[in-house]
Amino acid sequence: MARSIYTKEIGDLVGKIAVLGSVNMDIVITTGRMPKIGETIIGDQIDYFVGGKGANQAVAAARFGGTTTFLGKIGQDTFGEKVYRHLSEEQLDVQSVAQEKNIFTGIASIFKLPQDNCITVISGANGLIDREYVDQIADKIIESDVLLVQIEIPVDTLRYALQLAKENGVTTLLNPAPYHDIVGELLPYVDILTPNETEFAALIGKELIPEPEIEATILAWQQTHATKLVVTRGSQGVSFVDSGKIVTVASKKVTVVDTTGAGDTFNGILAAALSDGVPFKEAVVLANLGAGLSVQKLGAQTGMPTRKEVAVIENN
Ligand code: RIB
Repeated sequence: MARSIYTKEIGDLVGKIAVLGSVNMDIVITTGRMPKIGETIIGDQIDYFVGGKGANQAVAAARFGGTTTFLGKIGQDTFGEKVYRHLSEEQLDVQSVAQEKNIFTGIASIFKLPQDNCITVISGANGLIDREYVDQIADKIIESDVLLVQIEIPVDTLRYALQLAKENGVTTLLNPAPYHDIVGELLPYVDILTPNETEFAALIGKELIPEPEIEATILAWQQTHATKLVVTRGSQGVSFVDSGKIVTVASKKVTVVDTTGAGDTFNGILAAALSDGVPFKEAVVLANLGAGLSVQKLGAQTGMPTRKEVAVIENN
């Protein structure tokens, strides 16, 4: 039986989500292997996609039907114009996106390899998202139900924005990617933290957590922290603690084309569902299904599903 959330039309979710973060032009090179130091190889394909963890998460939330505002900065260049046009074509409020002079739009150089991908980000205008910008867009944060952030913008700005949201009763969701040591310091202002396994290991000061120990480690961390922890574990699913017990939501088996943006899809849908009052476990299930759909196409945003597409999978 279809869930009540799906009986609403797209755009009808009542919750509001603000996503403060990066937008990049993703330059994706598909190649069989990485070149060695000093070596030149011939790759297979190049593609340009709009990406950046902030923009990706905003698009995921909007496609799921959330009333979503994207807050960020672009540069004064062709990529800036392209990413702005692209985001305007989604059901997103991009009115507060600022254009900075004399700087380029963020760029992500992505090597897509058969087994996974490697990404280097050059921040450009994302690095200029500062407290002054947060002051300018403060209303957009305060009027939201959920503020969703990642760590591709300056950490001082993140702290400032999270504090503002917390003081005004907005639910705060931090996706600690790429990982930064500031995370521990930000926890007092974070309601929900969504690391992947590697980021969770970094949070507890380890390089790796052996698979059999993950669930017990999540449980132990949650018992001593007020911030709600949700660990995304790729094909293993997603784990969190509910009423003192560990819950792992399994992932469906899918044919993976490109994992870029899977975590962003998870976070965007989670924020959208929570903003609309969907119970936590159900929101995690929906977000996990959405992430599974997103990896079936090349490009971070290409495979991000609509709410109806998530519903089809859930009801099968
Ligand atoms: O999470 C995927 C994103 O990371 C890519 O779109 C790239 O821009 C980097 O920010």
